[in-house]
Amino acid sequence: MAKLNIVKEGDPILRKKSRPVEVIDDRIKTLAADMVETMRAANGCGLAAVQVGKLRRMVVVEVEEDKPYIMINPEIIKREGKQNEAEGCLSLPDQWGITDRPMTVTVRYTKLDGKQYTVTGSGLAARAFCHEIDHLDGILFKDNAVRMLDPDEVEH
Ligand code: NI
Repeated sequence: MAKLNIVKEGDPILRKKSRPVEVIDDRIKTLAADMVETMRAANGCGLAAVQVGKLRRMVVVEVEEDKPYIMINPEIIKREGKQNEAEGCLSLPDQWGITDRPMTVTVRYTKLDGKQYTVTGSGLAARAFCHEIDHLDGILFKDNAVRMLDPDEVEH
C-alpha cells in the first residue's frame, strides 16, 4: 500500500466528472487500498478517487473505526430528511461550512468483489456519502454550503 498525494482546491481536476469503473482489476484494488491508507493518514472520514488524481467513480468512507466502505460506481438512490451540520474536505484544508444534506441516504454501489450492495446511513454517514459522491461530479462541499464558518467557530 502507498500513501498518495491529496489534490488541493485550485487544481482543475477537482471540477471534472469522474468516469465509471468498468472492470475491477488489480489496479482498482490497489487504488482502493491506497485510498483507505491515504484517508486514514490524513484523519479524514472519506476520500474520492479524483482527490488522488484518478477520475474514476470510486470513493472510500470510514465513519466507524476499522469499517471502511469501498464504493465503486456509487449512486444515491434514496434521500430522506434534512440536516445542517459542519463539513470539511481534505482537498480544502482549514475550510469548514454548514451544508444542506439529507439526514438519511441509501447508496447503491459495487464492492471489490464485483457484486452490488446497498447501504443506508444517517447523520455523519449520510453527509460523508453525499460529500464523496458529489466529488465524482466535480462538486465541492462549499458549492452548496449554507454558510462557511470562521476559523474561530470551528471546534477541533
Ligand atoms: Ni471532500
